[in-house]
Amino acid sequence: MDAIALLKADHKAVEEKFTMFGTLGSRAFKAKAKIVTDVITALIKHAAIEEAVFYPEARQRLQDSGYLVLEALEEHHIVKWTLSELDHMSPTDERFDAKFTVLMEIVRHHVREEEKVLFPAVRKAFSKQELDQMGDQLHAAKASAPTHPHPRSPDEPPFNAIAAVVAKPFDAMRDAGEAIVKQVRRASMQS
Ligand SMILES: [Fe+2]
Ligand SMILES: [Fe+2]
Repeated sequence: MDAIALLKADHKAVEEKFTMFGTLGSRAFKAKAKIVTDVITALIKHAAIEEAVFYPEARQRLQDSGYLVLEALEEHHIVKWTLSELDHMSPTDERFDAKFTVLMEIVRHHVREEEKVLFPAVRKAFSKQELDQMGDQLHAAKASAPTHPHPRSPDEPPFNAIAAVVAKPFDAMRDAGEAIVKQVRRASMQS
């Protein structure tokens, strides 16, 4: 899969979660929490691979249009802060829906700009083979990407790569801990 197709597939998967969130009633706390957890993981991984592979390549090649990448990085920054707050928020909090709604608005704006401006510019500036290779790199980078927001971490090479190596084991430990808590809760409900 080429780089742009892979990133667009990520956008589509997140948009499906957003649409699903919009169909839920105000008291569907469990379902909303699950969607928000899934969106956090998907967006954090997606942002990490764009920042590790796609943006640096695009910025280098696009020259005059490099500001597109700087603006995208600033939008990622806002998204990560909002996700870091949602990551520790209960779905019963009166600000939860409002915060997620604002997140959806920012992400939809960001995705629109990527798909309408940045991606077509990249498609023009890179060969088919280069985009395929970049797609493989993005796919590989996903396996080592963090799964929780770290908005204070660097977002450009080379320091973002170091930050990802540091964050990954902590995120993995947190994910494992949360999975165990869920299993214990489920088991206690069955007994
Ligand atoms: Fe992005
Ligand atoms: Fe994106």
